[in-house]
Parts: sequence; structure tokens; C-alpha cells
Amino acid sequence: MKKFTCVDDIGSLSQALAEAKMIKADRYALTDLGRNRTLLMLFFNSSLRTRLSTQKAAMNLGMNVMVLDVNQGAWKLETERGVVMDGDKAEHLLEAIPVMASYADIIGVRSFAGLTDKKADYEERVLSQFIQYSGRPVISMEAATRHPLQSFADLITIEEYKRTERPKVVLTWAPHPKALPQAVPNSFAEWAVAAGYELTITHPHGYELDSSFTAGAKIEYDQDKAFEGADFIYAKNWSAYADPNYGKVLSTDRSWTVDSRKMALTNDAYFMHCLPVRRNMIVTDDVIESERSIVIPEAANREISAQTVLMKMLNAL
Ligand code: CP
Repeated sequence: MKKFTCVDDIGSLSQALAEAKMIKADRYALTDLGRNRTLLMLFFNSSLRTRLSTQKAAMNLGMNVMVLDVNQGAWKLETERGVVMDGDKAEHLLEAIPVMASYADIIGVRSFAGLTDKKADYEERVLSQFIQYSGRPVISMEAATRHPLQSFADLITIEEYKRTERPKVVLTWAPHPKALPQAVPNSFAEWAVAAGYELTITHPHGYELDSSFTAGAKIEYDQDKAFEGADFIYAKNWSAYADPNYGKVLSTDRSWTVDSRKMALTNDAYFMHCLPVRRNMIVTDDVIESERSIVIPEAANREISAQTVLMKMLNAL
């Protein structure tokens, strides 16, 4: 595997899920696979889970790991070509990428959407430069439009908890005070459809996602109706995708917060969220603390999804 940016990159999804299960059964079975191999993890944005789980996954495979926070302790990087660099950015990505690649065997990149230029975001301008110019396998650790390590972990979790072959999975928008990217919901929809789940997406009018990610899902604007019979509730906020409101917060309507009344409409559903989560905006305290909340095992599976991807990349080096 030369890049991991979307569900298509994983190859056979059922095989990848089977490999993830094997890794979870013994995550230290391949401690020699990554010997003398180095993972460089590069963060343009903050992280708790991705940083720790991916580092742990690499260490489980015997890799060396280097972590760089681009905006803290390194030169600020210019990412656009043609810019006159007379501001605070001292180095261009086009020099920095090959330099960093010379120290690494695999590169992980986290670079969020800016939410001001939809074209630039959906062209994945930062991630694609790493893929084009590094000469190394590249893992998206959440890019502008997708978060594949998260989605893979979400599917590993659903496979562990599902009670029917084809569960009803509901992706619900929920309120948040700040504008967030569409990467997690885009990616979750793409992976859930690929897994063959019955996917319903519910959100207020104006929050429609890019239809290329949601093809195969049912869109339901009535949240209560969407929740009926659900086996899994996956909550997430996102900002508007459609023009002219791209990247904007259109609503903070707390009637969309996931609470116990809404969870009672479901088929005793499990509650999921990628974390970090704002309590009593996205979900009430009692729901996230309930026995049906699986947000912690979901986060723990980030180590498994990362290790599965790293294993595939190391095997292909
Ligand atoms: N879910 C997730 O990616 O968490 P972090 O932003 O903390 O890495």
C-alpha cells in the first residue's frame, strides 16, 4: 500500500477487517516487521488520539517514530506555490517534503480543511503534495476531506458490537459552537456504505454533505424518524458544505443534541463519536456515560486501525 487516504486504498475491506481482528488478538506478533524503519508523524493541527494511537501502533510493529508539530518548534511552512514568501512562513513545503522524506520510511500527515476555500480543501492540496513529492508511502492522519484511520476504527468497532449482519447505522449532525470540517462525516459515510450497512444520515437543512460521499445512504431531515430502529448512533458536528455557506455554522440548535429521549427511539442503539466531544452540545452526559456508549472502545480501536495500515505499508516496502 503506497497511500492510505480513503476506503479504496485499503483494498479488500473484509480482508482488512479480518487482519485488524488478528492484530487485536495479538498486537505484538510482528514486532520485527518495522525494525530499522521510521515513521514520521507530521501534525499541522492538534491531536490526542491520532498522535498516541498511531505512535503506539508503530511501536507495536517495532518501528522508530518521529513526531513533528509543524506550527510549534519547526519553521512555519508555506503550502501554496507562487506565494512571495515575505511573511512569517520561512520554508516552503516543496523543500521541506523531500528533506523530511529523507529521514523516514513512512510519513503520516494531519492537515485539516481551512474552510475558507472549498476548492483548495477538496483538492487536498497539502496531503497531495506529500503523496506527489515525498517518494514515501503516506498515511492521512485526517486530511481536509476524510479521516480514514478514524473510519476504519469505527468499522472495526461496529463489527465487534453489531447484532445483525446489516445493522442500521445513523450518522447524525449535532450542534457545536465552532465551524468544523466535513472530514469525519464524509469519511464515515464512505466507509459505512462500503461495508454494506444500512446508513441513514440526518441533519438540518443546509448541512447536506458532498453527494459523492453519501451515495448509497438515506438522507432524513427528521432526526427522531432517523433514530427509529437504529442499531448504532454516530454523532458528529460539521459545518456547511454547500455554496454559498461553505465552512459556516448555520445552526447551533440544541434540539439536535443526542439525549436519552432520542436514544429511546432506537433499537437499543450503541452511541458512537470519534472524540473529542463537547458534552451537552453533541451529546448529554447521561448518554455518553451510559452502558450503550462505546466511545472508549471506539477510540481504543484507533491503535488497531493504524497498526493494520502500517503493517500493510511495511509489507509493501
Ligand atoms: N478522533 C481523533 O482523530 O482524535 P484526535 O483529533 O484527538 O486525534
